[in-house]
Amino acid sequence: MTSPESARPPLSPDRFSTEAEILAAASLLKAGDLVAFPTETVYGLGADAENPEALEKLYALKGRPRNHPVIVHLASLGQIADWAVEIPEAAWTLGKAFWPGPMTLVLKRSARAIDAVTGGQNTVGLRIPAHPVALRLLETFGGGVAAPSANRFGRLSPTTAAHVRADFGSELATVLDGGESQVGVESTIIDLSGDEIRILRPGMLGREAVEAVLRRPVMLPQGYTDNAVRAPGTLASHYAPLSPVELVSSDSFESYLARLGREAVVGVLARRARPQNLAGSALWVHAAADPVTYAQALYTNLRYLDSQHPDRILVEAVPAEEAWLAIRDRLQRASVRD
Ligand code: TXA
Ligand code: MG
Repeated sequence: MTSPESARPPLSPDRFSTEAEILAAASLLKAGDLVAFPTETVYGLGADAENPEALEKLYALKGRPRNHPVIVHLASLGQIADWAVEIPEAAWTLGKAFWPGPMTLVLKRSARAIDAVTGGQNTVGLRIPAHPVALRLLETFGGGVAAPSANRFGRLSPTTAAHVRADFGSELATVLDGGESQVGVESTIIDLSGDEIRILRPGMLGREAVEAVLRRPVMLPQGYTDNAVRAPGTLASHYAPLSPVELVSSDSFESYLARLGREAVVGVLARRARPQNLAGSALWVHAAADPVTYAQALYTNLRYLDSQHPDRILVEAVPAEEAWLAIRDRLQRASVRD
């Protein structure tokens, strides 16, 4: 069986969009059009954050509820003062330490952050992404770019330009190319708008690194403890591929496979090699043993397995350590069905 690892082209800046293409995309944003662009986490679907009609197009194309807030992407740290008020010292400390990078800060919004961006909340999510194509686009555009992940609502986030085109086809004219997203899962969202500092969405920037810089405790998302994730039933199905995803514990993985019927057609994402004597027919993707590499390929691997239309996708559960928290979160969401 081919794995997407072998089919994947190497990361090469040759494939990156050119300066001229980035300038043209910035002009389209100014004119109220939508532009998909690469970031180091996942690809974003961008709109001028100060243009309500552009935001309306964005929500319509994504098929996303109007009351979901979107993250405003900026080119430089000083710009957060345009979008937020009562900015705490922690925001500057974290911004200096981790931006550009896979971190989103939730702050009290300024009047510039309109309801169409904040979902009517009194806070706004801000991020400076670390991808050179994104930064060039944001610098040229000059203002804030509202960008959710560039996938249809409820589907997997895209980590290549091809993933974006697969979701939107001709409905989206401009997709800037920046190769494969190097982080692979969405940014860590940190809420700085309240008395305590809380991670709202785990990402590959982990709590320990944030605490080390702030020298104060940071809470995990409500319902998460160090070694557990929320009960699957409480998580919205948000990143689901089409074939049902089943999370199987490492301990029972082998016996689970042994019980598969001969007629079973399954996709497997596991940190172990394919056993010799597998009964059913399995597409086996051998995932990385370390969380950083695992995360980079996660959505490509799930999209690949899903594209083969197996009866179901079996995923070997990942370790309980906090370094795997963002991955556990995304796998849980992928495995929950409405
Ligand atoms: O890595 C990322 O963050 C990517 C890239 C494109 O930057 N973007 C992304 O956007 O994942 P999206 O829309 O798929 O997810 C944004 C998340 C949502 O869960 C939303 O609820 C949360 O950010 N969010 C945005 N603004 C917020 C706010 N003011 N308060 C709480 N959560 C907020
Ligand atoms: Mg998303």
